[in-house]
Amino acid sequence: MAELRVRKVKDFSAELKVPGDKSISHRALMFSALSNGPCEITGFLASEDCIATRNALATMGVEIEELGSGGSHIRVHGCHGEFKKPERAIDCGNSGTTMRLLSGLLSRCPFEVTLTGDESLSRRPMNRIAVPLGQMGAVIKGQGDRCTAPLTIQGNEKLTSIHYASPVASAQIKSAIMLAGLGAEGKTSVTEPHPSRDHTERMLNFLRVKNIREGDTVSIWGGQIPESRDIEVPGDISSAAFWIVAAAARDGARLLIDKVGLNPTRIGIINVMVRMGAKIAERIDESGCEPMGAIEVTGGQLKATEICGEEIPTLIDEIPIIAVAAALAQGTTVIKDAKELRVKESDRISTVAENLRRMGVQVDEFADGMEITGGSSMEGAEIKALGDHRIAMSFAIAGLFAEGETVIHGSECIETSYPGFIREIEQLQAIGR
Ligand code: S3P
Repeated sequence: MAELRVRKVKDFSAELKVPGDKSISHRALMFSALSNGPCEITGFLASEDCIATRNALATMGVEIEELGSGGSHIRVHGCHGEFKKPERAIDCGNSGTTMRLLSGLLSRCPFEVTLTGDESLSRRPMNRIAVPLGQMGAVIKGQGDRCTAPLTIQGNEKLTSIHYASPVASAQIKSAIMLAGLGAEGKTSVTEPHPSRDHTERMLNFLRVKNIREGDTVSIWGGQIPESRDIEVPGDISSAAFWIVAAAARDGARLLIDKVGLNPTRIGIINVMVRMGAKIAERIDESGCEPMGAIEVTGGQLKATEICGEEIPTLIDEIPIIAVAAALAQGTTVIKDAKELRVKESDRISTVAENLRRMGVQVDEFADGMEITGGSSMEGAEIKALGDHRIAMSFAIAGLFAEGETVIHGSECIETSYPGFIREIEQLQAIGR
């Protein structure tokens, strides 16, 4: 198990570029594979999660060329959705997006395939996609009540369109149904309690696949084939979030990040940090498939806030690092309506609460959130990442503010979403002492 050791730094000023957006990279691969020709993808995130999707598509007969070193520039040869039956089970690694979106894609294929995952992914509920995809005519079998992996999917070339009222706001559920809906006859719709990230809708529109949003409902029509087009993936706001908090919570700090995704369904982290007192300026370019641009953060003393309701889906992956910001802010921050955190790569309510307490922070945990009282000094501690990349990175940032040394045990999981994070932390330690 790898260890990452972090110590307090006095200053933090940086100009950075973060690697490609994970959610958008998965979609760029899958949708271009469905398309009618070659698509070049730039800014692709060559991290373990997205490589799991890339390998899965390759075993389904999709040709993918690497055009530059580092794997961020690739060409995918669309196969009109005519995938070949893989010879072996597909390993989705740690990636929930791979398993759930691929299940939608495979539901329309006339063969049976098995999807496996690592220990963390094999604990996560797949009934949330198995139920609607089953209603459409695929047969998905998993383990136990929550239909956990390994999953066996028997696809069906004649799927039925449905209108599904999802009990949770989840882009993974919505996207799995939309992908299956492309293979069904007529109109398939999904209604969510609150809108989740809309990368699927935007990218399909960009590839000229008609889909519409009316209120909290998204609809798509079957029988359409995405048109092959080149896709530029912006930097991942979820990766930028670690540096945004590192800068926002420090008096005198300044951070510039260019070419980062600024999709309104993902920028909850920016809105919250501004509410907590950070100064953030944005410059947005809306001309591509996704809004992207530059942000400049100026740090200062943060104050507590409340986060709940429809804001939660816009920052669901950023709650661990927001919790660190809350520990550095004056007052008590309340996070609620976030019980989805319990079924992420780890149970992020209990892992965040336990690790913050180890650093001397007062945290009250409840079923769908927590209350964090910030403002006192944090102590370096032994942190368990529990196989969860966002926990490992959030507490590495906490270590930049804590007295003494912070040791992140199991830091290898950072590779699932942010290759290069450890190099950035090490550089910062070298110059910020
Ligand atoms: C993702 C959606 C979110 C998010 C995950 C990536 C996606 O999950 O937590 O990291 O790419 O669609 P849910 O849609 O289940 O909330």
